[in-house]
Amino acid sequence: MSTVAIIGGGKIGEALLAGLIAGGMNPKKIHVANRRSERSQELKEQYCIVPFSDNAQAVDGVDVVFLCVKPNVLVKVADEIAEAVDNNDSTIVVSMAAGVSNASIEEVMAAGTPVLRVMPNTPMLVGKGTSAIAPGRFADEENIEQVSKLLTTVGTVEVIAESDMDAVIAMSGSSPAYLFLFVEAMIDAGVQLGLKREVAKKLASNSIYGAAAMLQETGEEPAQLRSNVCSPGGTTIAAVRSLEESGLRGMMYRAAEAAAQRNAEMGKH
Ligand SMILES: NC(=O)c1ccc[n+]([C@@H]2O[C@H](COP(=O)([O-])OP(=O)(O)OC[C@H]3O[C@@H](n4cnc5c(N)ncnc54)[C@H](OP(=O)(O)O)[C@@H]3O)[C@@H](O)[C@H]2O)c1
Repeated sequence: MSTVAIIGGGKIGEALLAGLIAGGMNPKKIHVANRRSERSQELKEQYCIVPFSDNAQAVDGVDVVFLCVKPNVLVKVADEIAEAVDNNDSTIVVSMAAGVSNASIEEVMAAGTPVLRVMPNTPMLVGKGTSAIAPGRFADEENIEQVSKLLTTVGTVEVIAESDMDAVIAMSGSSPAYLFLFVEAMIDAGVQLGLKREVAKKLASNSIYGAAAMLQETGEEPAQLRSNVCSPGGTTIAAVRSLEESGLRGMMYRAAEAAAQRNAEMGKH
């Protein structure tokens, strides 16, 4: 299996390394560099990865570099590692950042460096991530395959065109937060009806888990699954009417549009 460097051991960096290890990768093949060296040490103690405080040293000799820093520092970090990447045989550079194009990374790397942009999401931490890969102009099928293989250990992978990235961020990159918010609201609603918070939490989160499994396992349209549980004149259709009257669909259109627009704006700076 490949040797990887993860630059930025924050939420996404940790989700990725934890997932790779849980998927069978030897932690000694994972280099992690972070801004604060205490954080690299913390990750070393927890996962036995190889910690670095210097980004360029961390990428020395690795097959794939995952840039997991915030978008505002991503190009600067890419610039810092460019020479070391060029000195390696053939290293693929993968950016996990929202709003940073392949072209702006390719511009600071040596000519011909394969660059891919990935939109991950945090369920990666429990092996249920959704990653969308948009290859840059120097990334070939083999590069896509190699990165897909790594990301498959932490969830599902889709290859997309970079022009779809704004919409993909709205659909998978940001959507775990929408769902957490939805469950949070469900729990409060249960508490308001008199349930203990722990009981409401268990019922709400198991229901969302079960509903997601049904969607995946039956392959049915969500509209069909919903209609199956709405008996005429029953309780569920009464709740569905209330959700529709409260503007659930409009809310979702606006939320997705807001995330996509924000990603597009970030790319302009
Ligand atoms: N969170 C999500 O749900 C999500 C979803 C999809 C995509 N993303 C993308 O994933 C990327 C990381 O997001 P995140 O939520 O994981 O952020 P985060 O938790 O803030 O992690 C960023 C990490 O980068 C480190 N860092 C900062 N500057 C650095 C430098 N110059 N060199 C090395 N490491 C440096 C930070 O270290 P310190 O803590 O020491 O500053 C921190 O550990 C972002 O670009 C974001 O767009 C995030």
